[in-house]
Amino acid sequence: MEQVLFRHNRPGRAATFAEYCGDGGFEALKKALGGLSPDDVQQMVVDSGLRGRGGAGFPTGKKWSFVPRNLPGPRWLICNCDEMEPGTYKDRVLLEANPYSLIEGILLACYAIGVHHAFIFIRRGYETAAANLRHGIAEADKAEFIGDNIMGSGFSCAIDVHVSAGRYICGEETALMNALEGKRANPRSKPPFPAVKGLWGGPTVVNNVETLSNIPAIVAKGSAWFKGLAKVPEAAGTKLFCISGHVRNTVCVELPMGMTLGEIIDGPCGGMLPGRKFKACIPGGASTPFFTADHFAVPMDFDAVAKAGSRLGTGGIVVFDENTCMVGVTLNLIRFFARESCGWCTPCREGLPFVHEVLTRMEQGRGREEDLEILSEHVHYLNYSFCALAPGAMGPVEGLLRLFKDEIREHIRKNGCPFK
Ligand code: NAI
Repeated sequence: MEQVLFRHNRPGRAATFAEYCGDGGFEALKKALGGLSPDDVQQMVVDSGLRGRGGAGFPTGKKWSFVPRNLPGPRWLICNCDEMEPGTYKDRVLLEANPYSLIEGILLACYAIGVHHAFIFIRRGYETAAANLRHGIAEADKAEFIGDNIMGSGFSCAIDVHVSAGRYICGEETALMNALEGKRANPRSKPPFPAVKGLWGGPTVVNNVETLSNIPAIVAKGSAWFKGLAKVPEAAGTKLFCISGHVRNTVCVELPMGMTLGEIIDGPCGGMLPGRKFKACIPGGASTPFFTADHFAVPMDFDAVAKAGSRLGTGGIVVFDENTCMVGVTLNLIRFFARESCGWCTPCREGLPFVHEVLTRMEQGRGREEDLEILSEHVHYLNYSFCALAPGAMGPVEGLLRLFKDEIREHIRKNGCPFK
């Protein structure tokens, strides 16, 4: 299987600048600055079908195209590396092995959209990744791939690494911009979208680490090549899947977009732990509704997963065996989201702790039949919150109600958790 993102990896350590260049690194930047216009680069990304890998799957080239071309004043690019979605660790693995694809991807993106200053907003705790990035930026700077008048092309670009203060909400793109401006990390209303009015009021593109790390290969090898890497015609490229839970191998792997859930679990994960049977999984990070064994044939790409009732999200798959209590799993996730709510809007601030309370009483044997209706109402009403945190948090609750109603009723009937 062809690797795009893990192609430069070395066992047990990060690739060096010399190794990255030896593998064809920075050739895409040379190609772009040597003969492609910014519009050419943007068009290649549009044609490649690349969709955002941070969770939402928004088409990357389309997002770039929203940046107004002739507006005076600075514009910005932010790489979102505030990876905090539970079950998700792909960006960390990527950057611990190789910071250079991201650095080159940022430079190409900045060239395409006319940005001269990019920020990498990185999760506190990702020390090795941040150190690799700082070292990588210094190496690329020495080689004149970063800074003023890069390789005599007239294009200049700086990259700064900014360590997050360390809250889940800081990864929400507008809260992130507030944090970067030194303000409290509350989300802003959208529209205006950041591509039009973002950091310090200027047009700002916010892209995920994995998204940007794909750009050098797209520019070097072409859009058709990238599109052709996927296993299904509707999708494009490869995807990093990070899998944890009750499988034999908990791994972060790069696979063609569109491999089925069953192929991923039986293949790179080596199946379930000995003697365990698959019950369910979170398919794309903690804010996505569960999948069961009935979903094994679903191709893991944005459209197919959405059609099957969940979201590809970040590609963070968490697997549960048949002895796992799904009410308990959902309660655990909601505890996280309720704690991480920034408190800015009422539905999220008040709603999530209440859902936590309802799930707690169910798990402790104090559940009531009407709790099903209460949870269902909250799945609906928490969609009316200010940002994606509360609707995302309700993803597993929606999945619980749709797929595990019998298990909820058993908790109520038996006055307690049947798995304890
Ligand atoms: P969203 O769907 O609101 O937006 C996705 C992107 O497209 C944003 O950059 C947005 O600015 C842009 N966009 C959408 N419509 C646009 C328009 N009409 N004009 C210009 N730009 C437009 O999703 P959001 O809130 O950015 O992200 C939510 C996702 O983040 C969730 O699906 C979740 O899976 C994921 N997530 C990932 C985390 C991680 O650690 N990687 C943590 C938390 C959530």
